[in-house]
Amino acid sequence: MPEQAKISASRPTRISDPSRQAAGATPSGATDERSAAQAVRQMFDEIAPRYDLLNHVLSMNVDRLWWRRTARTFTHILSRSDARVLDLCAGTGDMSVALHAVAAKLKSNAAICALDFSHPMLQHGLAKYRARKIQPLEADALQLPLAESSTDLVVSAFGFRNLANYDAGLREIFRVLKPGGEVGILDFSEPGGLLGKLYGFYFRRVLPRIGTLISGARSAYEYLPASVHKFPAPQQMLARMEAAGFKNVSWTPYTFGIAGLYRATK
Ligand SMILES: C[S@@+](CC[C@H](N)C(=O)[O-])C[C@H]1O[C@@H](n2cnc3c(N)ncnc32)[C@H](O)[C@@H]1O
Repeated sequence: MPEQAKISASRPTRISDPSRQAAGATPSGATDERSAAQAVRQMFDEIAPRYDLLNHVLSMNVDRLWWRRTARTFTHILSRSDARVLDLCAGTGDMSVALHAVAAKLKSNAAICALDFSHPMLQHGLAKYRARKIQPLEADALQLPLAESSTDLVVSAFGFRNLANYDAGLREIFRVLKPGGEVGILDFSEPGGLLGKLYGFYFRRVLPRIGTLISGARSAYEYLPASVHKFPAPQQMLARMEAAGFKNVSWTPYTFGIAGLYRATK
């Protein structure tokens, strides 16, 4: 698929893989949403010390381009000093840093809050947060401690896929956004064609081995390709966003569809 080809929800949805209609992330051993969330949190707690290093090694630094590109997409919001921005599932903060860089370049004082339920992940990002006056917040994305219609922009990078219930996550984002507020969900995808096959080999066979070697946590890097495979395909995700009440939904592939950005407006 060409790099800039955007998908909107108006195309018909063909659901070919029932496993992709999952309610949410299901790490191995999880039996319900509660145990799934617990397993996800435990996994990130465990890999937090090596998370940044692993991210850059495994993505060959392409992740930096993706965070920056996503942040630039929302320049029109970040340029406003009164904007309230939520980085959902912020982890060690690289998405927040990219959002802050766009705002700072425009001399905007947009308030950025970095929310995650893993204390060690936030802790490892603390130096980045403090240096930029980004507010870290330890909380669950499915129960946001934010008022209804209080936020101009919610961005989530590689985090939303880990929620135990995607529809509940979308509803919660919708609730906290102001009318006209926007959401951006950046996450991996599974490209098709020859590139998809080659990338699939790297993602399923090579990446888990390197990840396990550096982090010492085997399950986390086996969970990553499995979670991407279970995550709704773009058309299904767009349909779910519309069902949650969003409009102007679209998906823009990044780097031949290895990743992509979902956008929508409340
Ligand atoms: C793959 S990391 C992404 C971190 C960061 N956004 C980035 O781009 O590097 C996923 C993050 O989502 C967080 N997360 C998963 N489920 C969550 C939930 N229900 N509430 C809050 N954070 C959650 C994890 O703790 C983890 O830090």
